[in-house]
Amino acid sequence: MADLSVKYLSLELKNPCIIASSPLTADIDGLVRCEKAGAGAVVLKSIFEEQITSQVEKELDENEQYLTHADAVPYFEQISKDYYINRYLDLVRKAKKELSVPVIASVNCTDADAWTEYIRSFEAAGADALELNYYPMSADWRTEGSRVDRLAADFAARVRSACSIPVSVKIGCEYSSLAWIIRQMDHSGVDGLVLFNRFYRPDIDIENMTLTKAANPLSSADEYAESLRWIALMSAEVRLDLAAATGIHSGETVIKMLLAGASAVQICSAAIKDLGVISEVNSTLEDWMNRHGFSTVSEFRGKLAQENMSDGSRWERVQYIKKLMGE
Ligand SMILES: Cc1cc2nc3c(=O)[nH]c(=O)nc-3n(C[C@H](O)[C@H](O)[C@H](O)COP(=O)(O)O)c2cc1C
Repeated sequence: MADLSVKYLSLELKNPCIIASSPLTADIDGLVRCEKAGAGAVVLKSIFEEQITSQVEKELDENEQYLTHADAVPYFEQISKDYYINRYLDLVRKAKKELSVPVIASVNCTDADAWTEYIRSFEAAGADALELNYYPMSADWRTEGSRVDRLAADFAARVRSACSIPVSVKIGCEYSSLAWIIRQMDHSGVDGLVLFNRFYRPDIDIENMTLTKAANPLSSADEYAESLRWIALMSAEVRLDLAAATGIHSGETVIKMLLAGASAVQICSAAIKDLGVISEVNSTLEDWMNRHGFSTVSEFRGKLAQENMSDGSRWERVQYIKKLMGE
């Protein structure tokens, strides 16, 4: 029988399917359901610096007496922030108590120094690893692309040196040089990268002429191509682990990601629609490995990474040169 186990961020996973940070992983009931569905690991719903800051501001507005005492404001800010962090720490502890699969905490912040102490507390609460959900929206034309890339790499390096559990960074694909960032993060000792996050997308309600959120926040099954390409391009070039994310809805896509060199995959939308996708993915993978005579994932992982192919330059192809019809 094929052995589906993989190593990701030095953690032993019984299979490569990780439930991505999402509403499914926001409370203990959801987390238990993910484990029962067969997940190899879970990433907790992120704690957001931005959300805490805006919540604290709202509470300050509602408690005007604090605003009249200048000294009381930082004190109030601190206890409010601690309250949200403690709630998250509770989730980490409960998850560690109830689950046997690895639990990865997830934080979204941009100020690594201000968060160092909190990041260490996630480690102390028992998190097996930390995922940084990092994305600075660079809409300011005065900031050069290379500066944005450098900030991302520096941020990851600072967090990496602040804690001793494995650290991964979940990034989007909108950087001026993805290959450079991936290599920099590898050099700074980051243990893994998640390629790629899929972000919240604003839309326009044309009747009311107002901003709204996109009608469907979930991905579709054909959105995996960019993750597949970058995993194939980089997996054999770096020491760190790559987890594939976005558009992973089937066992076939998981097999493609592993062939490209991913160490694991993260599934969100397909699992929100039906958690049964995890057992479907694992049985498709097992059946495929048996048919192809592979007894472990390491026997075929990275077989189609660019470095391991004689015609690997095909992964860099971006233009349709021939006519689509009658090619
Ligand atoms: C409703 C919703 C909430 C999400 N919340 C988070 C989050 O808190 N942190 C995070 O890193 N990613 C979050 N994501 C992104 C997912 O983890 C995932 O990376 C993305 O949806 C792409 O994967 P998919 O195609 O399998 O959905 C969220 C996605 C959705 C749809």
